[in-house]
Amino acid sequence: MILVIEVDTGLETCKIFAILKGMALKIIEYGSPEYEQMLALRENILRKPLGLRFEPIDLANENHDILIGAFEEDDILGCCMLIEENPSIVRLRQMAVYNEKQGKGIGRALMNFAENVARDRGYKLLNMHARKNAIGFYEKMGYQVTSEEFLEVTIPHVVMEKKL
Ligand SMILES: CC(C)(COP(=O)(O)OP(=O)(O)OC[C@H]1O[C@@H](n2cnc3c(N)ncnc32)[C@H](O)[C@@H]1OP(=O)(O)O)[C@@H](O)C(=O)NCCC(=O)NCCS
Repeated sequence: MILVIEVDTGLETCKIFAILKGMALKIIEYGSPEYEQMLALRENILRKPLGLRFEPIDLANENHDILIGAFEEDDILGCCMLIEENPSIVRLRQMAVYNEKQGKGIGRALMNFAENVARDRGYKLLNMHARKNAIGFYEKMGYQVTSEEFLEVTIPHVVMEKKL
C-alpha cells in the first residue's frame, strides 16, 4: 500500500509518499537540516569509500536541483537528486542508501518517486552516470546502458537512460 499526500508549501505542491513501515519520501529544501543529513549520507556512502570528499564548489549550484530523501521519522535513509540537462532531459545523481538499510526496497522507492517528480515537471527522459557496480540495480528499474565505460570519481561508470 502506498499513500500519496499532497502538501501545498505555498511555493509548489510537494508530494509525500508515505509507504509501509513509516518511510516518507520527500523533496528536501536546499540548506535545511534535512539537506545537512543528505550531505552526510552522500559523503559517507559515495565519497569516503573512494578517499574523496565534497568541496564547497561541488555543492554551490544545488539550490537549482531537485533534492530527494527517504526518511524514517526524522532520520534520512537514502537520497538522490535530479538535475535539469534541458527542458526534456533530467539527470539523476547521488543515489545512495545507508549500508545497513540497503536491500530493503529504499532505492527502488527513491527511483519511483524521482521518476514521478520528473514526469510531473514535464521531462521526457531520465539518465544517469551509473557506477558499474550499480548497473544491475538500474537495469531492474528499466534503464539501459547507452555508452561505453568511462572513469568518474576514479571508478568505472556508464551512461544509462529510460524514457519517462
Ligand atoms: C545502489 C543502491 C542505491 C540500491 O539501493 P537499495 O535500497 O539497496 O536497492 P533496493 O533494495 O531497492 O533494490 C531494488 C532491486 O535492485 C537490486 N539491487 C540493488 N542493488 C543492486 C546492485 N548493486 N546490483 C544489482 N542489483 C541490485 C535488488 O536486489 C532489488 O532487486 P529485487 O527487486 O529483484 O529484489 C544502494 O545499494 C547504494 O546506495 N549503493 C552504494 C552507492 C551506489 O553505488 N550508488 C549508485 C551510484 S550510481
